[in-house]
Parts: sequence; structure tokens; C-alpha cells
Amino acid sequence: MLLIKIIAQLLFLYAILLQSSLSLENANYIGSNQCKQCHIQEFSDWQGSHHDWAMKPATPEFVLGDFSGL
Ligand code: HEC
Repeated sequence: MLLIKIIAQLLFLYAILLQSSLSLENANYIGSNQCKQCHIQEFSDWQGSHHDWAMKPATPEFVLGDFSGL
């Protein structure tokens, strides 16, 4: 009886591990636009904020400092 319980628990743990690894493999970044339909106030407060700018790519379009002398 104890052996059956242990086997059942191991199968359960294996199923959880398998499921979580599969769902991570299929995970994608959906982007902030997906949030605004439900969080419109938070989205507009965040837009243009320092936190928003911090997430932008470090390309000439977004880097405001002059690093030409470095
Ligand atoms: C389909 C509607 C919907 C979408 C889309 C959505 N949310 Fe939410 N979100 C909710 C609801 C409902 C709550 C719970 C609000 C509450 O408990 O007052 C919540 C709560 C949150 C919380 C916790 C807020 C708190 O005060 O604890 C965060 C953070 C959050 N959402 C971020 C996001 C982000 C980031 C996205 C986009 C990737 C997103 N949400 C997309 C509906 C949504």
C-alpha cells in the first residue's frame, strides 16, 4: 500500500514537472499593449515614465545622452 502511494506521488510530481516545462517552452512575451484593455489607467500612467524609458532598447532612437566623447 505504501509503495503504491509513493509511486502515485512520484507520477504526480512528474506530471507537474512535465506540464510546467512544456508551458515555459511555449511562453512568449506578449507586450505591454496586451495589458491596457483591462489596466487603462496604469497603462497611461506608465507610458512615457522613467520605467517605460528604462525598458526601451539602447539604440540611438532612445538614448538621450551624448556618449560620443567616450
Ligand atoms: C483580461 C483583463 C486583464 C488583462 C489583459 C491584464 N490584467 Fe492584470 N489584472 C486583471 C485583474 C482583474 C486583476 C485583479 C485586480 C484586483 O485584484 O483589484 C489584475 C491584477 C494585476 C496586477 C496586480 C495589481 C495589484 O494591485 O496587486 C498586476 C501587477 C497586473 N494585473 C499586471 C498586468 C500586466 C503587466 C498585464 C499585461 C501583460 C495585465 N495585467 C493584463 C485583469 C487583467
